[in-house]
Order: sequence, then structure tokens, then C-alpha cells
Amino acid sequence: MSIPSHNRRNKIAESVIDYTDMRTKIKRIAVLTSGGDAPGMNACVRAVVRDGLAAGLDVYGVRRGYAGLINNEFVEMDSRSVGGIIRHGGTILMTARAPEFCDEAGRKTALENLSAWGIDGVVVIGGDGSLHGAIELDAAGVKVIGVPASIDNDIGGTDMSIGVDTALNTILDAMDKIKDTATAHQRSFLIEVMGRRHGYLALNAGVAGGAEMIILPNQPIDLSAIEKEVNAAFRRGKPHFIVVVAEGAEIDGRTATHALAEVIGQTEYGVRVTVLGHVQRGGSPTAYDRILGTRFGAAAVDMLLDGKTGLMTAMRGGEIIGIPISEAVSSPPHLHPDILRLAEPLSM
Ligand code: F6P
Repeated sequence: MSIPSHNRRNKIAESVIDYTDMRTKIKRIAVLTSGGDAPGMNACVRAVVRDGLAAGLDVYGVRRGYAGLINNEFVEMDSRSVGGIIRHGGTILMTARAPEFCDEAGRKTALENLSAWGIDGVVVIGGDGSLHGAIELDAAGVKVIGVPASIDNDIGGTDMSIGVDTALNTILDAMDKIKDTATAHQRSFLIEVMGRRHGYLALNAGVAGGAEMIILPNQPIDLSAIEKEVNAAFRRGKPHFIVVVAEGAEIDGRTATHALAEVIGQTEYGVRVTVLGHVQRGGSPTAYDRILGTRFGAAAVDMLLDGKTGLMTAMRGGEIIGIPISEAVSSPPHLHPDILRLAEPLSM
């Protein structure tokens, strides 16, 4: 079956927008990935490049995110340049955390480079810091569309960011393996997961992986009750006691992982600690992240073609919409109350 390649643009053409006129306004776009990489970024880059080319645009990639904007690392992309990348983690454009873009001098150089290359619009793929950078570009008069990509799922206004699903599955794979050895030894395990100050990964991995306890950032913890709780669980017949700890959780000014290891280590069952770390950021993206990255990338191109700027692609109830980037970064998402409520009864 052949699928018409430009349904979407036909739809735009049928509405009141004079698409030909738009094309004369936007001729050349750039795409960059910035901040912590997230599996699915490549799918998004691929969609921006191929969908942009299909719309008649010149597409440039900027290497190393905002640092590349400043250091003039532009490279023209063609269809082949993104061949075979959809299944790979990381980002072919490479990424960086670029504090120099926070300085006015750095931003000025970046703007000069964008203008020298004749770039009419930029797609910024990244997390919270990257989206703040996009706000700066927009304020300086550059047309920019942000795409949320961060395993932390800490960006507001969207149900999901690129990379979250793959990271969750990586965590689950590790948890399942740890459970095998924990059960064999009747041990407790602390598994620390990423997420910065947000508990999305910890909560969802904890529930999906059948953890006995989940420790989230900003959650009050009564350390004195924990030793008893662990001993009681083993006496009830639990063959293991798995605690998923969010990296951003603290207890009495220490990381929760440290504080809990000390207390659970006092039990007769002992404790082992696994900090999953950057393993969570790598690997081949899941189908979900490939599709999400692809849809976000194509939507970002559409928004630029429509003359939009200052928007972030967002997923809401299965649909892709554009919301102001400023709104997305100023209202971090809440953890879903249903999942929060289920965490305790399901751990019994
Ligand atoms: O934001 C993604 C993330 O992986 C966080 O979960 C983590 O705290 C941070 O990046 C680690 O950053 P870096 O790779 O710079 O050490």
C-alpha cells in the first residue's frame, strides 16, 4: 500500500494558509541537539532533515548544540546523512552543556553565525536548559521551535519527552536482573535512578518493576521506621526488598541512597547498592521513542513552515500540539496521582 507523502501539507493547503507564500519566507533551517542526550533524538533529527528536505528546505545540522552555534559548527544535511540512525541512541549531531551560551558575548556570536549561514529557523531538541536557550534565541528574533527530549520527563505541558520510555525500559531490565540475585540471597537492594529533581523515572520504574519501596525527591522519610519495615517484609515471606531511589531524593541533608544504605545495612538481610547512572541514557530507542521523535521532528518543521516561533512540540492525549516554550519550562509536570496512590498497596 502506498501512503500519500504529503497528506499533512495538502491539509494545510486546503485551509486558509497560503503555503507557497510560507515557503518563500522560510528557506533554510537548522537543527541541534543539546544537554543530556536522550534515546530517540536521532529519530527526531532524521524527521527534521527528511521532512524539511521534502518541503523544499535546506537543512543544516549544528554539531554540539549551543556550543556549535557559537563555534560555527554547521553542516549541510542530506537524506543520506541521516540514513540508519533511527535505531541508535545518543545523537549523531553530538551534544554539549554550553554555559558560554548564557553569556551575552556567546549568544551574540551564535546569532552572527546563524545570520551568516542564512538560517531562517532553528529546531532545538533537548531538555530544560536547552529550552531556556531556545527562549533566548526567540527573544533575539530567531524563529525557533523546541522539542522536549530528556529521560527525566521533567518538562511541563507534554505527556512525554523523547527518551523517557527507553530509559524506563532500561531500568526495568536492570531491576529484573537485580531481583534474581536479590531473591537468591534474600537481600535488600537500593537501585538509584536518574531524573534530577523529578521523580518520574523512580515512580514509574518502581511500580512497573514491582519495587517494595520507592523514594522520591521532596518526600518526607522516617528513617527510624525503615529498618523495621524491611525486617517485617522478609518475615512476611518477601524473598527480596527492592528500593528504587530517585537521585534527587535527600534525607537529612544526605543523598537518600547513602542514608538508606546505612539503615537497611543494619538489618539481618544486608543491603547492596546499584547506581544505574548513564546506562539509563544509552541504548537503542524503543518503538515509542522512535515514533515520538519522528512525530515531534515533523511537527517542528510544520510549525516553522507556518511561520511560528517560541513554541515547543508537546504530546497531549496522543495528539501533537504546539505550546509556548516559556509555559513548558515554568510549569514542571506533576507525577500522576493514580500511579502515586498505587505504589504502596502494590508493593505488599
Ligand atoms: O537530564 C538528564 C540527566 O541524565 C539527569 O537524569 C542527570 O541528573 C544528568 O542528566 C546527568 O548529567 P551529566 O551527563 O552531565 O552528568
